[in-house]
Amino acid sequence: MVKGNVLMVCLGNICRSPLAHGIFEHLSKEFSITVDSAGTASYHIGNPPDPRSIKLAMNQGIDISNQRARQFTRSDFDLFDHIFAMDRQNLRNVLKLSQSETESNKVKLLLINEEVEDPYYGGDQGFEIVYNKIEKASKDILDSWKQ
Ligand code: 4NP
Repeated sequence: MVKGNVLMVCLGNICRSPLAHGIFEHLSKEFSITVDSAGTASYHIGNPPDPRSIKLAMNQGIDISNQRARQFTRSDFDLFDHIFAMDRQNLRNVLKLSQSETESNKVKLLLINEEVEDPYYGGDQGFEIVYNKIEKASKDILDSWKQ
């Protein structure tokens, strides 16, 4: 039985982690997995995902338009079993808030030794790269949990 709570983390919680939230939730529908996302920064609290992320997800039949950005807080260490950061900067920022090995052991990069880079200031192609990386990582993680 695959189960657990998964938190996807990026900087603003409007581009990458909302996509990761939607994609992981979609791929794990058959399991007892709860997925959420958060940002390490506060700039976009309460905002919906970036329109470019909404559109890419919608093209795959995944509706992320109702998500609203929130900031990562220490209580997330209690609420989630797995905390996946999109890049090393956000990994460091989450780890800085951890206060025990139990907490820090929950935090990993989504991709092993690879980053899902910030697409915010770039073009549509950056968002497609983000989407494909997140989809692959999510499938790999779920496959590893099934074994
Ligand atoms: P995200 O992208 O971390 O994938 O949500 C960003 C969104 C906003 C900003 C930076 C990255 N910003 O600087 O406002």
